[in-house]
Parts: sequence; structure tokens; C-alpha cells
Amino acid sequence: MKALITAGGRGTRLRPITHTNNKHLIPISNKPMIQYAIEAVAAAGIKEVGVVVNPETVDELEKALGNGAVWGVKISFILQEEPKGLAHVVKIAQDFIKDDPFIFYLGDNVIVGGIDRFVKAFQQDASDCHLVLSKVSDPHRFGVPEIKDGRIIGVQEKPKNPRSPYAVTGIYIYNQHIFEAVHAIQPSARGELEISDAHQYLIDKGFLINYSEVTGWWKDTGQPEDLLEANRFVLDQIIERPHSQMTAGEVDSQSELCGKVIIEKGARVINSQIRGPAIIGEGTLIENSYVGPYTSIYHDCHIKNSELEYSIIMERCKIKDIDIRIEKSLLGRDVTFLCGKSRPRTQKFVVGDESRIEL
Ligand code: TTP
Repeated sequence: MKALITAGGRGTRLRPITHTNNKHLIPISNKPMIQYAIEAVAAAGIKEVGVVVNPETVDELEKALGNGAVWGVKISFILQEEPKGLAHVVKIAQDFIKDDPFIFYLGDNVIVGGIDRFVKAFQQDASDCHLVLSKVSDPHRFGVPEIKDGRIIGVQEKPKNPRSPYAVTGIYIYNQHIFEAVHAIQPSARGELEISDAHQYLIDKGFLINYSEVTGWWKDTGQPEDLLEANRFVLDQIIERPHSQMTAGEVDSQSELCGKVIIEKGARVINSQIRGPAIIGEGTLIENSYVGPYTSIYHDCHIKNSELEYSIIMERCKIKDIDIRIEKSLLGRDVTFLCGKSRPRTQKFVVGDESRIEL
């Protein structure tokens, strides 16, 4: 079995971060999001992984992932010239997949509990397609299956009146019949080759589609709030260990760490309070500050005289002397957030396109 992981697309809902960076490299609990997908397929015993990339960020992805040897897999990069839909991704990957069955994994999905169970179910029931479903409160935002007598008999993309409380998650397992489907279907009204249409094609042609239900936690991280929630969830999974095993960096005697807090190598915490679950990245300095639960601060940041919680702070950010607590925030790379001391006390901004600021 091979794996095909998406890392292309436009990422419009995560602008402005995605104006300059590939969304699949946004860190969740200080680990690029796509790494969760790679680790999951590697843990399921898959050795050959195709990563679908767009021309704008192919270099960034190649640099970040390399050849996959660190995860014990071999990564091949597959270029998708334009984001023409998920069924189009499958179509262009045919040369890589050849006749093997494969798992198609959307690289912006985070699932806890691994995927071995789904792979085994697909192998045991000899179906043509295995969909992983998750019960959600808002199925109209997703591809929604219609289920009768334990079989999937239809799949609708973002239906107004969902026929089940399930979302089709971004984890699918196929044999070669999916290629027949992706070649047969036509672009949808939004001009994309929809994966739901390919599934519907398989159903209409009498192929067997089975499913498993996610019993743990799953998130499609399309929007900033989803990223914060995924970060919360992954941080919650940290297992509490003795302080010495969780702290590779330095914490001075004036500081207090409370609960599950990871201090990575080279990080320093001075006269500050950190309430977990939280993670402080390599080379980051926290001074005279408060870091609250569900916060991930990536490497080489400097937080001084400030308070923040429930946030993702990407690499090399500087937050200094901010006298209101920052929360529910996503800061991209190299962001500087300062409070000027000079009079008059005005507010100055240098903000990229499509940024959002709430004061
Ligand atoms: P989406 O979240 O549906 O699309 P997107 O990432 O372009 O984001 P937005 O809707 O905010 O513009 O994509 C799901 C996954 O599939 C994600 O990993 C990106 C990837 N993808 C491709 O690789 N190629 C494509 O043509 C499309 C549509 C998505």
C-alpha cells in the first residue's frame, strides 16, 4: 500500500499566513501540521508516500520534509500545477500509485489515534473504497454520506439538508477503481473535480464502499479557529512526566510551571508563569510574562512583559510590553508586536493583506 498526502491547494481561509507560507507547515503543538499525516501513514507500515504540492511552495515543502528518511518512508513530490480539486489530485498521482491500493490523506487533517484500524478494515472487507467518517454538529460544511443498512449509498458535497450526521473526513482508502472514477467525472459548478463526485460514481457503478467511524478526535484545519482547536487537542494529549523530562531548556527559580508544560532545548523562562498544557520552542525566551493553557510558541521567539494564552505563535515572533492579554490568536512567522513608550501613545500598524486585528 502507498500513501498520497495533499499539501497543495490555495489555503484562502488561512490568509494572510498562506500568502507567504504553505498552510501544511503551520505548526500545531510545535510540529508542522503535515508531519501528523506522515507519522500516521508511517505508523501504519506504509513506506512509499507521495506528497502533492503546488508550484508556489514546492521548494518550501521539499526543504521541510526532505526525502522522508527521518520517518522511515520515501517521499516523492508530485506537482499539481493548479488546484483543480481533490479528484484531480488523485488523477495526477496515477503514475506514482500505479496498481497499488493507497490511502489518500488530506495533509490539513489532524486525527488522533492513528489510521491502522482503517487500513486493516479496508484489507479485511475487500472493498473498493473505504471512507473514514466522523460525527459532527455541522455536516453541511462537509461531504456527507447517506447510509442504509450499514452501507454507503450516496455522498453529497456540502448539502443543505444533510442525510446523516457524519462528515467524510480527509482520509480515504482506494484500489485502482478510483482512477476510473476520477477520469469519468466532470468539474463541479466551482470548477473543481470533486472527490464526492468520484465516490458517487463508484456507488453508481456498483463498487463496494465501506466505512469506519473515527472514535477519537478529528479536525479539518481549514480556518484559524480550527487550528487553535487542533492545537488545544494535541496539547491535551501530552502525557505528564517528571519536570526534568519535560524541560530541556532553562527555567529560573522565579518562574513557575504548572501542569503539562514542555520547554524545548535552548528555551529560557525567566520570572514568568506558564500554565499548561503549553509548549515553548527551541531558543525561545520568555521574560516577565504569563503564558496560559493551550499555547504553542515555536522556536526563537521573544516574549517579554506580556500575557498570552490559547494561541499559536510561529517562529521568531517578538511580543513585548503588551498590557492586554493576547488570546485566541495565530501569529505568523517573524511578527513583531510592541507597545511603544513614547508620547503621543498612538497605535502603529504594518499589517499584510487580509490580516485581522481585534482591539
Ligand atoms: P481545502 O481545504 O478544501 O482547500 P484549500 O487548502 O485550498 O483551502 P481554502 O479552501 O481555504 O482555499 O483542501 C483540502 C486539502 O487538499 C488541503 O490539504 C489542500 C489540498 N488540496 C490540494 O492539494 N489540491 C487541490 O486542488 C485542492 C482543492 C486541495
